[in-house]
Amino acid sequence: MSSGLIAETTEGRPASTGEPILRAAGVGRAFRGLQALADYDLDLRQGEILGVIGPNGAGKSTLFNVITGFLRPTSGRIVFHGREIAGLPPDKITALGIARTFQNIRLFAGMSVLDNVRTAQGMRGGAGFWETIFSAPSFLRKERAIEERALEHLAALGLADLHGVPATSLPYGLQRKLEIARALATEPSVLLLDEPAAGMNAQETADLTQLIRDLHARFGLTVVVVEHDMSLIMRLCERIQVLNYGRVIASGTPAEIRADPKVIEAYLGADETPDMALPTVDGRQQTHEESM
Ligand SMILES: Nc1ncnc2c1ncn2[C@@H]1O[C@H](COP(=O)(O)OP(=O)(O)O)[C@@H](O)[C@H]1O
Ligand SMILES: [Mg+2]
Repeated sequence: MSSGLIAETTEGRPASTGEPILRAAGVGRAFRGLQALADYDLDLRQGEILGVIGPNGAGKSTLFNVITGFLRPTSGRIVFHGREIAGLPPDKITALGIARTFQNIRLFAGMSVLDNVRTAQGMRGGAGFWETIFSAPSFLRKERAIEERALEHLAALGLADLHGVPATSLPYGLQRKLEIARALATEPSVLLLDEPAAGMNAQETADLTQLIRDLHARFGLTVVVVEHDMSLIMRLCERIQVLNYGRVIASGTPAEIRADPKVIEAYLGADETPDMALPTVDGRQQTHEESM
């Protein structure tokens, strides 16, 4: 396991520059006695792509929810660029520069593709109220700039031609990409992706892997990706954390994680196949609320 700040460069995977920008210490979240996340520690380094994996119900989405303010942690500290953010509301955390996508896609139904992105852009400060009233030309200029930036983000995801169509009329895979475009529209430094390849076939997943790599480089992002698809995780991430029952049971390079008996056991039980097909923790389906 690499413990230094400079991660080793592994074949083809992006290497981080090393500065820790998001730190979590002892973070936990309980739901009526169920400890969904416990004693979670993280030193996220500027520019890295961290993978978080683990069976269904392991606490991965809960982790994203506490980092982004959708859930208040019941214990621990989360520090972003030196500032405590645990318990801040989601819009504040977004404004500070942490963006996310959702495991269950949350696009604005009834809005066009472009408007979904444009709306998100406002979260990092669009035209102000007084400016709107007193300074129409500057307001219009700003609106214009906002639209152009939104189209840039759509283009980055290959969605520019679809800007006018209703967001929810897009096929599922494109809706996932639109969620990423919308997250980028808030101009984040840290991007959290919750199962971005869910529902995609092997080719779509390979394309998405390359796309995330491109966005990471182009927008100078630090990325945390939760994903069940091991081909994406292993190709993209220089470091991986494995959650099981809310706790980190392993952390290291893809090669270390692949060979870790605790990981193999958590995923596979008696099964030996290393593609890490994911059973649910207790064999039942997740409810809608659970998979937030
Ligand atoms: N809002 C919630 N209310 C109650 N229980 C929840 C809620 N969110 C998650 N959980 C529970 O916390 C555990 C972790 O869930 P989750 O973080 O969604 O796991 P993962 O994303 O790894 O599949 C599960 O047992 C789940 O049922
Ligand atoms: Mg989840």
